[in-house]
Amino acid sequence: MPIVSTFCKKGGVGKSTFIAFLGHYYATQGKKVLIISADDQNSIFKIFGADDKIFDKQDDFFEYLLAGKADLGDVLLDVRENLYLIKTLNTDKLSTKLTLERSQEKMIRKIIEEYASWFDYIFIDFPPSSNRLSEVLLDLSDAIIVVVGLDSLGLDGFFNTIQYFYDSDIDVDHIKYIVPNSFSKNRRAPKVSLNKLTAQAADFTKQAVVLPPIYDRAIVKNLQAEGISVFDNVELERYDQKQLNLLKGELLELFKLIDLNKKDPEPKNNLASKLGK
Ligand SMILES: Nc1ncnc2c1ncn2[C@@H]1O[C@H](COP(=O)(O)OP(=O)(O)O)[C@@H](O)[C@H]1O
Ligand SMILES: [Mg+2]
Repeated sequence: MPIVSTFCKKGGVGKSTFIAFLGHYYATQGKKVLIISADDQNSIFKIFGADDKIFDKQDDFFEYLLAGKADLGDVLLDVRENLYLIKTLNTDKLSTKLTLERSQEKMIRKIIEEYASWFDYIFIDFPPSSNRLSEVLLDLSDAIIVVVGLDSLGLDGFFNTIQYFYDSDIDVDHIKYIVPNSFSKNRRAPKVSLNKLTAQAADFTKQAVVLPPIYDRAIVKNLQAEGISVFDNVELERYDQKQLNLLKGELLELFKLIDLNKKDPEPKNNLASKLGK
């Protein structure tokens, strides 16, 4: 089943938030969803109010699975119905190991493929820094969603992401969607940034769909501070209902435009027909 990553070589742009919203939405639709945190800050856990699970046990990190000291089921932490997370301990260490030992890379691929047969969606939440672990996981991804903050630093982040893909030989065509984040009608800068981003995307990532921007909404931070997701149907009465509905509505409209099961077109060469296959 599809392996989907949110990536951007800039922190604080909304990668974890977006993947949490999307993953939780699919889970509420009855899909089995796994989100792997390839960021050892494990902020995806905080978003779901599951910080206590980060350090409550020491032997259920992704590393233990790789070392063969845990089984696939041991490292799955359930945070909502149909929604499971996996945490990492030290991505730098893991990357060094990956660089030194090719067998580790094979092991990661095997593990992810095994999970893929159990889940409807696997999402991977990345840190902004790049390392060998990121390369391996990006390469495994069927679809990459680049989240871009709508200010000048955010645009730099988009540009650096493209540059990084070229430098590391990661297929830019795997970027299927670009999500502009933190838009505002009343400020000029986000609008200017959105126009620039659209132009840059047309140049560098022709195959990617630039989705409508997500607005900068205080309620996102307020929900996260309490570990509540917008798709939780309890405990939401306390929040500003108008803001909540605007955010939910905006996300649902956007999710309708995302098709993660879409297959890449067949390769253009005609060898298959020539060889009678
Ligand atoms: N649309 C939004 N409106 C307001 N705040 C947002 C929005 N999206 C994300 N944030 C906030 O921005 C901060 C960084 O988001 P996060 O998803 O952790 O970014 P990243 O994973 O790229 O580092 C968090 O405090 C989050 O609550
Ligand atoms: Mg993050």
